[in-house]
Amino acid sequence: MTEQDFIPKPYLSDIENGKVTWESPSNIALIKYWGKKKDQIPENPSISFTLSNCKTITTVSYSKKADTSSFEFDVFLDGKMKDDFKPKIQTFFERIEVYLPFLKEFKFKIETENTFPHSSGIASSASGMSALALCLMSIEKQMLPDLSQKSFNKKASFLARLGSGSACRSIEGDLIVWGENKTVEGSSDLFGVQYPYKVHENFKEYQDTILLVDKGEKQVSSSVGHNLMHNHPFAKNRFQQAHDNLENLKPILESGDLGGFISLIESEALTLHAMMMTSMPYFILMKPNTLEIINKIWKFRQETNSNISFTLDAGANVHVLYPKNKATEILEFIKSELVAYCQNGHYICDQIGFGANHIK
Ligand code: DP6
Repeated sequence: MTEQDFIPKPYLSDIENGKVTWESPSNIALIKYWGKKKDQIPENPSISFTLSNCKTITTVSYSKKADTSSFEFDVFLDGKMKDDFKPKIQTFFERIEVYLPFLKEFKFKIETENTFPHSSGIASSASGMSALALCLMSIEKQMLPDLSQKSFNKKASFLARLGSGSACRSIEGDLIVWGENKTVEGSSDLFGVQYPYKVHENFKEYQDTILLVDKGEKQVSSSVGHNLMHNHPFAKNRFQQAHDNLENLKPILESGDLGGFISLIESEALTLHAMMMTSMPYFILMKPNTLEIINKIWKFRQETNSNISFTLDAGANVHVLYPKNKATEILEFIKSELVAYCQNGHYICDQIGFGANHIK
């Protein structure tokens, strides 16, 4: 498929006004997207677990307007007008207008809320951009009633990617691959696809407890970090490594090899941060408590032979990943040993989820 395939046929029916609501989850990458070309075309493939509890709920109200020369929208977070969200959405609308040619014909009210605290250091761009893309797709669907569910999801993922790369992995669950590669048939740089191969029971209902080490604004945004992969001395090897890791993950997922899984995802997390530390300019997003937690996890694993592991996103927070059948012991360990390293003792219990939901 190419970008052109997402330009819609002429709309069949006219609509005047209405309201749609979607809730869409966050996701956590196991193999990381870090480095992109224009319009969030990834430099390497990534794969993520869709989450369940960390989500954004967005309602878009729309009404026809007479002047079609520019976009018109207001954004509200938790009921309060958020003008500082507008430039990102303006850019998003500019990028997707060719694929949703109705955007200038309506005035939109975008009301959004997150189930996780806004100041948690958890990126809301994946859940937020995917929820918005889904609302816009629901509006388009009213004018193109024949659009199949499959095409709807694919285009929602395609649009979400243009808002924030990782957002394209939040439409469906439970394991999503994004970025063309030879391991996963049907994979694409343009949108996320469900991982199509056998996944062992060990990975069903996998748990993710997110330890909120630092809830502040990041010093370096993901966009800046991605850009620093241009001319990065290790870029070529890193991009190849992500392809290799995806190939290596396939038999691990199939056989339920938890040891292999742990080595691969922890290496991916640390490689992501190693890329940040070896960019020019270089930067560090981990905090001392991030390292304390990692060391505690390794010690606990060594002492108890437990299958606890961690991954990191582009920040200081730690995602503790573990199989459902060990949840009681591991949560006990998290509460007694790790929560002390979280800002104000805050953490979020989540697990693998199955994608976004149309609320109304
Ligand atoms: C480290 O999707 O936030 O979480 O495309 O610029 O919006 P933009 O970046 P974003 O980058 C996410 C990076 C990551 C890894 C991942 O989710 O794969």
